[in-house]
Amino acid sequence: FIPQEVAPLVSSINDLLTRLKASLNTQRRFLADAAHQLKTPLAGLRMQAELAQREGNADDIRGSLQQIARSSTRATHTVNQLLALARAETTGRSLPTTELDLAQLVTEVVQDSVPRALEHGVDLGLGHEGPDDTPPVCMMDGNPTLLKEMTRNLVDNAINYSGVGGIVTVRVLTDRFSGVHVLQVEDNGPGIPASERELVLQPFYRALGTNVDGSGLGLAIVHEIAQQHNALVQMEDAHPHATARGLRVSVRFRPR
Ligand SMILES: Nc1ncnc2c1ncn2[C@@H]1O[C@H](COP(=O)(O)OP(=O)(O)O)[C@@H](O)[C@H]1O
Ligand SMILES: [Mg+2]
Repeated sequence: FIPQEVAPLVSSINDLLTRLKASLNTQRRFLADAAHQLKTPLAGLRMQAELAQREGNADDIRGSLQQIARSSTRATHTVNQLLALARAETTGRSLPTTELDLAQLVTEVVQDSVPRALEHGVDLGLGHEGPDDTPPVCMMDGNPTLLKEMTRNLVDNAINYSGVGGIVTVRVLTDRFSGVHVLQVEDNGPGIPASERELVLQPFYRALGTNVDGSGLGLAIVHEIAQQHNALVQMEDAHPHATARGLRVSVRFRPR
């Protein structure tokens, strides 16, 4: 028997417990996925190291060492992505923001990514030239570190998944009427089927059939950082009529 006065309290405590349980389950699954992602390259590392110890031939040893370097690069990447996601999630409470020029910030990230694009045989360029070739100015409040992290993840994906011969265009637009700033990263790669566009935003989800190394955390980081900035992430075909439809990811920031 529950007195009527406390019934609302009991029901809100029950709600709270249900939500707590759900979030604990999410965290437990996240940890299990993270551990699994790290276990694979670490197991590879151990195997290769054991192999190398048994090999006598210098070439075989060199081959094993190359594998070891590759596995440790992968593990390091996953750890860095996990840290980036944790950073994005914990700074959420009191996200330190400053006034910044989104176009300037994005230009810097693109410039930093040019060597990586060249290595992959990808043509990376900025598409947001304003009138008279002057870059536009897109002032907004945001966290520069997180916004760079977000942009870098989108550019990395576009480079990785479009591959040799890829064309990646990054632009910042401002809707003249609503004042909404939009960051767009588009490529001419295989794209993501519409049915998977929600799923790829979740941590550790990777579309099948990709031979690109990754941890499945990039778009989760993008999603988290967009949410912290009250922005929406949208995906569409970049070239709806071409064979390779490509992908255009748009991050729409609400006006101030
Ligand atoms: N530009 C893109 N073109 C095609 N597929 C993409 C693109 N970006 C992301 N994806 C798909 O979404 C999945 C999740 O991306 P992400 O979260 O960055 O993880 P990761 O790149 O480590 O796999 C990728 O595995 C890939 O299948
Ligand atoms: Mg990625």
